[in-house]
Amino acid sequence: MRWAVLSLTVVGVIPLPGLVARTVVVAALGASGAAQAAQRSDATTIIVQAPPPAASTSAASWVGRTGEMEAHLKNGEIVSIQDIGTGVTHPRRAHLKPTFPFESLVWKVLPPGRKSGYWESYKSEIAAYELDKLLGMNMVPPSIERTINGETGAAIMWIPALRSVKQTGGNLPQGVVWGPAIRKMLTFDNFIGNPDRNAGNILIGPPGEFILIDHSRAFIKDKDLPNKVERVDAVLWEKLQAVTREDLVRVLGPWTETDAIDAMLERRQRMAAAVDKLVAKKGRALVVINQ
Ligand SMILES: Nc1ncnc2c1ncn2[C@@H]1O[C@H](COP(=O)(O)OP(=O)(O)OP(=O)(O)O)[C@@H](O)[C@H]1O
Ligand SMILES: [Mg+2]
Repeated sequence: MRWAVLSLTVVGVIPLPGLVARTVVVAALGASGAAQAAQRSDATTIIVQAPPPAASTSAASWVGRTGEMEAHLKNGEIVSIQDIGTGVTHPRRAHLKPTFPFESLVWKVLPPGRKSGYWESYKSEIAAYELDKLLGMNMVPPSIERTINGETGAAIMWIPALRSVKQTGGNLPQGVVWGPAIRKMLTFDNFIGNPDRNAGNILIGPPGEFILIDHSRAFIKDKDLPNKVERVDAVLWEKLQAVTREDLVRVLGPWTETDAIDAMLERRQRMAAAVDKLVAKKGRALVVINQ
C-alpha cells in the first residue's frame, strides 16, 4: 500500500447525504503549489491513499525500478526456503517479507567451478543481469549476491505467473512479433557463451517478450559460438559493438574471470565476421534487422 501527502485547496463545504458536511477539495498541487498553499489559510494538508501504480503490461516489472528490486533481493527477510523441485542445479525458492515489490526469489548456491562437464557459478547469474542492464535488453531478471544461512549465492527475482517454452510444448512461439526477442536471445547467448539455453530457461511473457533465466553455465572461456549467426537485432547489435573491454571489466569484473571477458570479445569478433559475411551476401536489411 502506498501513501502520499497531498496538499489540497479547500474550495467549499457542501452537505452530502448521510454526512453533516464534507470538505470539498479539488486540486492536488505540485510541490511548489503545495508549498504556496501551505502558507494560505484556505489550505489543508491531509494524508490520502495514492492510487496504485498503473499495472505494467510487461513481464519485466523491474525495468525503471532496478534499485528498489535489488534492495529487496538484498534486504528482504527470508520467511521460508523450499526446493523448486526441478532443475539439475537444485535451485531453491525463498519467500520474502514484505511481499512487495515482489514475493520471492530464486536462491542458487553454486560455487564457481566445473561440475558434470559444465562450468557452473552463481556469479554468472549476476553477470548476466549486469550485462543485460549494460546492453539495455530488459530480459534478465534482477540478480544480486547474498549470504543466507552462511551460504553465499545468487538471489534472483522470481517472475510470477509465467510459463517456460518447455511448459508450453517445447517449441519457440511463432510469428513475426517474436522475432526481435529470439534474435536478442541468440546474440546474447553467443556473447556470453551460454551452452544452456534449453526450453526450460526461456519464460514466455506477453507477445514479443521473453524473460531469460538460468545463466549459471555461461561466461565460459571457450571461444566457440553456441548459436549459428543468421540475423541480429539492429539496436542490440549496435550497443554490443560499442561496448569496450573497460566496460566489461567494470561491470562484470566481480563476477567473471578476465579470461572469460577475453573470450566474450573474441566471440563478438566471430559474430561480427559472420554478420559482415552475411551482409555481403544478402544485403544489410536482411541481416541487421530494424524492428
Ligand atoms: N527468475 C525466475 N522466475 C520464475 N521462475 C523461475 C525463475 N528462475 C527459475 N524459475 C523456475 O525454476 C525452474 C528451474 O530453474 P533454473 O532453470 O534456473 O534451474 P536449473 O537447475 O539450472 O534448471 P535446468 O537444469 O532445468 O536448466 C525454471 O525452469 C523455472 O520454471
Ligand atoms: Mg534451467
